[in-house]
Amino acid sequence: MSISTPEELEALLKIGRIVATALKEMAGRVAPGITTGELDRVGQDVLENHGARSAPQLCVSFPRATCISVNDEAAHGIPGDRTLHAGDLVNLDVSAELNGFFADTGASFPVPPISDQAERLCRQTRRALDRCLDSIRPGHLFNQTGLIVEEEAREGDFQVIRNLCSHGVGRWLHEEPRQIANYYDRRDRRRFKEGMVIALETFMSLGSDWVAEAEDGWTLKTQDGGLAAQYEHTIVVRPEGPLIVTQA
Ligand code: CO
Ligand code: CO
Repeated sequence: MSISTPEELEALLKIGRIVATALKEMAGRVAPGITTGELDRVGQDVLENHGARSAPQLCVSFPRATCISVNDEAAHGIPGDRTLHAGDLVNLDVSAELNGFFADTGASFPVPPISDQAERLCRQTRRALDRCLDSIRPGHLFNQTGLIVEEEAREGDFQVIRNLCSHGVGRWLHEEPRQIANYYDRRDRRRFKEGMVIALETFMSLGSDWVAEAEDGWTLKTQDGGLAAQYEHTIVVRPEGPLIVTQA
């Protein structure tokens, strides 16, 4: 969607704060011994307490309220009985709807102590998101974000995951513009426009540039079984730099 009234912006900011709060509460509980199902419950409670509905449940009938992906799982992991251990890298992704508006956020969290390599993977992937956020302006090409993510991945000797992308959001979980790639696609001549609402998400892995669906029909795993990381914010494109909607 594109924001055109103060009322729309207010509604988007409201659900943005709620998903950010859910993510923060869940992140605060990441520790050895907790199960992904318990973490999901924490997020679900925050959403319910604010009257929000889980977007994955609403839009694609996902079995739980949030997506929790561990280690080689890059996205769409189903929370359940899996217990977190020291050294795991867990990705929490929360998206939800309130009054017809959707916001989407995610981040990867190490369960300490973690390897230097995993820590560097998180740092590069987060820095790629931060640099994209700094650079986006109306009129800029979408593919400049892909260029930045590729640069950061190369610097860390990591791979970008080519089949996981940023996307439009706002009135539904995934909407136009679709498939904003994490690599430089010179054929993509689309440009950011003022007011555009985008879920900007950067994905990297230790060595695999592709994820494939697991047998559960949801979880997307790296092909080589190596770690993956993701960071995501919902933003509104503005001339002075993006407004980050998903902040607690
Ligand atoms: Co997300
Ligand atoms: Co997203």
